[in-house]
Amino acid sequence: MVTGKSSTCDVYILAIESSCDDTSAAVIRNDTILSNVVAGQKVHEAFGGVVPELASRAHQQNMIPVVDVALKRAGVSKKQLSAVAFTRGPGLLGSLFVGTSFAKGFALALDIPLIEVNHLQAHVLALFIREEGRDRKTPGFPFLCLLVSGGNSQIILVKDHLHMEVIGQTIDDAAGEAFDKCAKVMDLPYPGGPFIDKLAREGDPGRFTFTKPLIKGLDYSFSGLKTNFLYFLRDRLEENPSFIEENKADLSASLQKTIVDILMQKLVKAAKQTRIREIAIAGGVSANSGLREALHKESGKRKWNIYIPEFEYTMDNAAMIAIAGYYKYLRGDFTSQQVVPFARTHL
Ligand code: KG4
Repeated sequence: MVTGKSSTCDVYILAIESSCDDTSAAVIRNDTILSNVVAGQKVHEAFGGVVPELASRAHQQNMIPVVDVALKRAGVSKKQLSAVAFTRGPGLLGSLFVGTSFAKGFALALDIPLIEVNHLQAHVLALFIREEGRDRKTPGFPFLCLLVSGGNSQIILVKDHLHMEVIGQTIDDAAGEAFDKCAKVMDLPYPGGPFIDKLAREGDPGRFTFTKPLIKGLDYSFSGLKTNFLYFLRDRLEENPSFIEENKADLSASLQKTIVDILMQKLVKAAKQTRIREIAIAGGVSANSGLREALHKESGKRKWNIYIPEFEYTMDNAAMIAIAGYYKYLRGDFTSQQVVPFARTHL
């Protein structure tokens, strides 16, 4: 793999991510990231969730400045670019249209290839992002990746950079959704995952017990836990209107422990079934300190080699689109100008 100092055969890719409520652009040289700019959208906070129409408008506003900063920070000119990569899906259609249209126009104007990227595949490939001057241990193939985000909870068998198979997934809500919806019940800001994580550090994880699903195989389910949490609080609030306020830390710690236990139980099962000991996590929820701790604990017990993306690359970001674009570029896997985004898709 070509890394380090730039040479004439280096590949430079501008990547665009706009699948939900973050407008992001990144520049990569081969597999080394040079810049990764993310503009969040505060406009959704007042609504307790992402409002698709507002997200599309904010992408439209943010796109050009974000790309401009990404190129400047990378010290790369438009003329140096080898290709433009973009998120084709899954995500919010209106948001994806903004990124897709921008990428098409940019590639057409510069007469360089266009590369479509699957957002889920990119979350996994975030594990391979290199940074200048920093050594990074990357997983060997095949490995298992627990992909946990706001929209997905999957166990993926990764056979090579672009060859992945989902062997387990949620049949209803995603783990991130469970964090966010339960956080909303406790009146925490959106997205609630990081707030629960923070509160959980001060709380007792054994104080309350919540429902764990009985789903066969490697699939997940989180909708029962969400309902259980909601009814549990409703009953307690009838007795004591300050129940949430007085027990926020213990509630967060107990909820987080339940979600992490559910996630880890199936991951352990998948590792046993496949006899794979190269284990990774990815996606927004992989930032969770309880999940990271549980993974470390399990790795000691089961002699797993574990891989966790840098914090910056766990949430939605264009750096992961850039690394996926790089692997596709090497294979000459380009996209036509007729491409349209998709809201839902598989790996
Ligand atoms: O990957 P991501 O940025 O977006 C999707 O592609 O869905 O993931 C966002 C999700 C949200 O549900 C958010 O609450 C959750 O990741 N999240 C966390 C933490 N940080 C982000 N959940 C639990 N603990 C965290 N520290």
